[in-house]
Amino acid sequence: MENVDKILAVAPMMDLTDRHCRSFHRILTKKAHLYSEMINTGAIIYGDAHRHLDFDKDQHYVVLQLGGSEPEDLAKAAKKGQEWGYDQIDLNCGCPSERVQKGSFGACLMAEPTLVAECVKAMKNTVSIPISVKHRLGLNDMNPEINADYQFTLDFMCSVAQAGASQVTIHARNAVLKGLSPKENRTIPPLRYDMAKRLRVDLQKHFPNVKVLLNGGLDDNQSISNQWDDFDGFMVGRAAYHTPAMLLAWDRMISSQGQEFGYFLNEQTWLDIQKGVIRYSQSWLEQTHQVPSKDFYLAAITRHVLGLAHGLGGSRLWRQRLSDHRIIAPVKTHQQIEEFFVQASGYLRMLSDQGDESGVLQYVD
Ligand SMILES: Cc1cc2nc3c(=O)[nH]c(=O)nc-3n(C[C@H](O)[C@H](O)[C@H](O)COP(=O)(O)O)c2cc1C
Repeated sequence: MENVDKILAVAPMMDLTDRHCRSFHRILTKKAHLYSEMINTGAIIYGDAHRHLDFDKDQHYVVLQLGGSEPEDLAKAAKKGQEWGYDQIDLNCGCPSERVQKGSFGACLMAEPTLVAECVKAMKNTVSIPISVKHRLGLNDMNPEINADYQFTLDFMCSVAQAGASQVTIHARNAVLKGLSPKENRTIPPLRYDMAKRLRVDLQKHFPNVKVLLNGGLDDNQSISNQWDDFDGFMVGRAAYHTPAMLLAWDRMISSQGQEFGYFLNEQTWLDIQKGVIRYSQSWLEQTHQVPSKDFYLAAITRHVLGLAHGLGGSRLWRQRLSDHRIIAPVKTHQQIEEFFVQASGYLRMLSDQGDESGVLQYVD
């Protein structure tokens, strides 16, 4: 598997990685795998499938993440996902929220490997696109250094691999199902990359073709590069959302085997990205015109872009403009969209393209 390209992915994040967010990220990287928010099977089967599933075709490679625990429902939802053009279906076995636990899915599914295997099989038998599972290192106070606890997680992974999953993503900390909020569950349980690495080695003794991605606490490209040889890919959540410029390096990281991870957000790059965002916003405007019930509101797009100017001189004013309802709401034509972004960029002091030692842009402030 060593010569196969590694996978770099933006994690599924509820209320964040919607279609607009993914289209913005696609402007920054052509190769990253982009995940949807988790969508419950019920919303897809009985709800407004267009609202939940529609996306722009230039967004590939795009993964639909499902929340559910009924094999039949998951199979139906996966089928719709395939019909809609998604490239892969991912099952959420890592979300610790109480609401999700009430529906008996998310992280609590790790305690039910037989059921998860049935879910994976049902989807695998219904669609031809790859199936993957995203899960945690363990549950509650399990300690992966204790054999039985380590074996619990390895058995879970083997079970989903046996059922036909071609990839698993390990969020490398336990999920604590009682007493911690979802947010605390992303910070308090310790990260254990060493255990995730061992799990990959042991899983691939039995299932050499199943890819194992590392997730959790990868805050910059250097952290990814440090782990490069130990995993088949890496999934980044919060850092990718809040400092999206890091995605500018991803295509080069993949082709240089993780060696080149710096990025330069110079004036030309900024203008290229801006052009992409303007084009995308204009195409969304046209799409909303075709559906009378849809209203165009540019903030649905700009809210995902705010992190791009992170660290740049003038970024506070730029961000204020991109989130000021009074300025954004009246933007309703192609020309107004272009003027809006060009004027907002006028608040940024221009950038130096001199990288520092880590290869990250030094901003002129
Ligand atoms: C706002 C938010 C929403 C999230 N929603 C989901 C989700 O829908 N499905 C999922 O599997 N994980 C979800 N996660 C967890 C992330 O996918 C990821 O596993 C976690 O943030 C750890 O990665 P990070 O340290 O790179 O952020 C969410 C995380 C955040 C911050």
